Parts: sequence; structure tokens; C-alpha cells
Amino acid sequence: MKVIIAKDYEEMSRKAASILAAQVALKPDSVLGLATGSSPIGLYKNLVRWHKEEGLDFSAISTVNLDEYVGLPKEHDQSYRYFMNDNLFAHVNIDPANVNFPDAMAEDVEKACEEYNAVLESFGGADLQLLGLGHNGHIGFNEPADDFCKKVHVTELTDSTIDANKRFFASREEVPTRAVTMGIGNIMKAKKIVVVVSGADKAAILKASICGPVTPAVPASILQFHPDVTFVVDEAAASEL
Ligand code: F6R
Repeated sequence: MKVIIAKDYEEMSRKAASILAAQVALKPDSVLGLATGSSPIGLYKNLVRWHKEEGLDFSAISTVNLDEYVGLPKEHDQSYRYFMNDNLFAHVNIDPANVNFPDAMAEDVEKACEEYNAVLESFGGADLQLLGLGHNGHIGFNEPADDFCKKVHVTELTDSTIDANKRFFASREEVPTRAVTMGIGNIMKAKKIVVVVSGADKAAILKASICGPVTPAVPASILQFHPDVTFVVDEAAASEL
């Protein structure tokens, strides 16, 4: 495991974006696993800038997103599909046919999980998976649990996750309580993993994830077993390491 400590959010975003840009440049038909949330927004801004100013080419890239809220249509401004369009896809030359999300609006959401799992397996794992870190140690929406859940599944969001995400909604009641997420097994199949973590409020969980025991009570701790994982964190997040 590598830990890169950047001065602040901007530097973290630039450093992490350069790992993704190198992946895109060196293997133009890469499968990128992508995350939403506040942590990767600056990273996506850099990728968009490098596409516009330097021609970073996404035309042969495929993407698989980590998760999606159950019950939010893709036009909803808090759906993760909307987030990805808004922050990346609409601003680069990615082929919409190569963008993959779980269908969290499906009537039979369990079947939609199986179908998304099959899509992920058809790629044999992402070339590079980008992750953020939840305050409770979640990656994707794999919440703390008794076991690591391997495949794509529906998850009940914990109170801590709903509280953390209510800032994006008009009220707490509007935050969906369920999501479809890649499982830990899907994430761990990625050839390379990059985790972006920012802010003093993530310092304790970053320490637990990197230095603590590997346990499903801290889902990100499983990353200690991955052969190629890089945490790119700012000084505030690194303050307890
Ligand atoms: C997002 C995701 C989540 C976030 C995590 C951190 O697709 O899967 O695991 O990465 O909740 O969110 P932020 O970056 O908003 O602190």
C-alpha cells in the first residue's frame, strides 16, 4: 500500500487525477471504476481540464460506477448518474455506450444487481478503481457489517451515511435509505485502486482503515490485502497517521 500525503484538497485532487490521467494515456481502452461524493470532484475537474487543454482522450474508455441510490431517476440532480454527467461525462469525449451503472430504478432491483454483477464480471475487474472513504469506513456503499459482501447488492444505508449525505438534499427525509453498490469482491478485483481522502473529519477512520485490523466493521480495511492500492490524502486527513 502507498500513501501519498498532499498539502490540501487541491493538491490531493491534482496528484490523484494524474494517476487516472496516466492510466487513460497509457491504456486508452481502460475500464475505470468511478466514485461520486465530494472527495473526487476536484480530481474530475483536473481530468476535464486536461481533456480540454491537452486532449486527454476518453473515446475508448469504459466506466463502471460504484453505486446508485435506489429510487432516484437518472434525471434527479442527486442521482449518481446525474453527478457523473455533471462532473465528468458531459465534459469529455466518453462514449455514452461505454458508461455503466446499476439500474437502481428497476422494478426487480435484485435482478438488476445480478445484471450489473455480470457486466462487472464481463470486464474481469476495473483496470483502475477510484474510491472515496465514508466516515464509518464504507467503500462504495459497503457499510460496516458482520461479513464482507462480495457481489453487487442492495444495501440499507446507515444513519451515519444518511446524515453525511443529507447536505445534498433539501431535508434528511429526502435522502434515499437504500442503494445498489458493488460488493467488496467486485472492488478488490480491480487491478489498481486509488482512494482519495480529505479533511480532519476523516482522520480517525483513515487511520483505522490503514493501520487497524482488517475487519468488516471497517470495510475499507480490506484494502490492506490489495496488491496495488494508493491512498492520496491531504494533511488534515493524515493528521492521525
Ligand atoms: C460514492 C461512494 C461513497 C463515497 C463516500 C465518501 O460513490 O461510493 O463511498 O466515496 O461516502 O463520500 P465523500 O467523498 O462525499 O466524503
